[in-house]
Amino acid sequence: MTTNQGLKVSNDEESLKAGVRGPTLMEDFHFREKITHFDHERIPERVVHARGYAAHGEFELYESMTEYTRAGFLQKAGTKTPVFTRFSNVVGSSGSSDTVRDVRGFAVKFYTEEGNYDLVGNNIPVFFIQDALKFPDLIHAVKPEPHNEMPQAASAHDTFWDFVANNQESAHMIMWHMSDRTIPKNFRVMEGFGVHTFRFVNAEGVARFVKFHWKPLLGVHSLVWDEAQKIAGKDPDFQRRDLWESIENGDFAEYELGVQMINEADEFMFDFDILDATKIWPEEIVPVKIIGKLTLNRNVDNVFAETEQVAFHPGNLVPGIDFTNDPLLQGRLFSYIDTQLLRLGGPNFTEIPINRPICPFHNNQRNGFSRQSINVGQVSYHKNSLANNTPSTSTAKEGGFVHYAQKVEGRVIQARSESFKDHFSQARLFWNSMSPPEKQHIINAFSFEVGKVNDRNVRQQVVDMFAHVDFEMASIIADNLGVNRPTGQQSQVTASSPALSQANTRRVPQT
Ligand code: HEM
Repeated sequence: MTTNQGLKVSNDEESLKAGVRGPTLMEDFHFREKITHFDHERIPERVVHARGYAAHGEFELYESMTEYTRAGFLQKAGTKTPVFTRFSNVVGSSGSSDTVRDVRGFAVKFYTEEGNYDLVGNNIPVFFIQDALKFPDLIHAVKPEPHNEMPQAASAHDTFWDFVANNQESAHMIMWHMSDRTIPKNFRVMEGFGVHTFRFVNAEGVARFVKFHWKPLLGVHSLVWDEAQKIAGKDPDFQRRDLWESIENGDFAEYELGVQMINEADEFMFDFDILDATKIWPEEIVPVKIIGKLTLNRNVDNVFAETEQVAFHPGNLVPGIDFTNDPLLQGRLFSYIDTQLLRLGGPNFTEIPINRPICPFHNNQRNGFSRQSINVGQVSYHKNSLANNTPSTSTAKEGGFVHYAQKVEGRVIQARSESFKDHFSQARLFWNSMSPPEKQHIINAFSFEVGKVNDRNVRQQVVDMFAHVDFEMASIIADNLGVNRPTGQQSQVTASSPALSQANTRRVPQT
């Protein structure tokens, strides 16, 4: 044992004292160093997705995607790319239980030869809100209530349901939230979705809209609510234990990556806006093409160093993959780095081993708290002649990232397409795609969750809101909650395209 300065330690059990019964001496540097370091061991947990568990693995491409994207790791069938994947619960703090009803994060960092690419998704294909400006409101409403810090890790409380009833764009997400999808059996039997619409851009500069899907090879399986509650009490680590033990036993977690693609010319073919994160692209209209496989095959060596310090960011792209103007995605591009500057202590968190690219990286960024790199030389600016203009920029042909030159037009405005206001059509498609037992589970979930709401007016608002999804469902929930049945009629499906009207959300059989 040594101190952090490398000095061999002779006694790690008794601090230095003045005499046998005297006070501890300030000069005991080993005591001071050990206690000081311990006092500073904690870093802030993530503001959301605090409870997480991760593993290393690889992504193998099945077929070349050259026609669609120039991304290097998607060019040649058989290419293997190292990855790090973190699963998480959105609401609970880092010490909460695994099996509570909650959305799960599904974040994948691909360490490609062209830099790190992060696909930061969830296990639900849509989201609660349409614009990132509302994210702090959503999270304030769903996290424990500020006056009494309850409930710890659940959406069964007044502020969450008050938010839902007063922000009705959440309807579709809430239907998924009340379904068995938010009580997955474990991470190995859970789907993942990039949620947003991204872009693939090929070497010719031709772009397509793309959505990403992870499909577990073991199929999708959920707990039933009674199991979820009992397990939360008996083994709060149930899902992380499953992942850890499966990998230790060589029973690796496997998921196929699928993409849905829409040509740029077809952007306006649908009666929903493809930039609206509260809408899916029904798989019957836009099929999912399976392009590769993710295998998680190695547990971390140290949870803090890797799982806790990893920094995912939807803005980490590689050439051939680009953003769209989805207003939720646009806001995320700001938020992740901003929070990581605080959580990981300044601008050098990209030097933490788990966050470093596997390819070389050079730029003129310098210094800052806890800088690890020793940048040699006189020059730290661009352009220069003293260092032969290094590091220099690269053209697209040389592998440089060039932002997609999409056309933008219009005035500065705070509104979105009309279809952003259709909150119920796809929520209803989801409900209609459920089997009778799944419908019963959704009714039970609403009855349990909203049943914990103290304010009768909030309960009534929720029932009235979900009558727009299904009148009968809302009426049964109203009876269970002891509030008035909704009045009026269910609003009509607004889908005008035959494609969407006939479509159903594809249902993966659940057990
Ligand atoms: C963290 C997904 C929307 C802000 C995360 C994580 C995931 C995720 C998976 C955990 C990453 C990890 O394991 O370390 C999503 C998805 C969204 C969404 C799929 C919508 C489609 C948003 C929005 C904001 C936001 C709109 C803010 C405007 C954050 C922040 C963190 C986070 C601040 C913590 C990051 C950290 O501390 O490293 N999100 N999120 N998210 N998300 Fe999101």
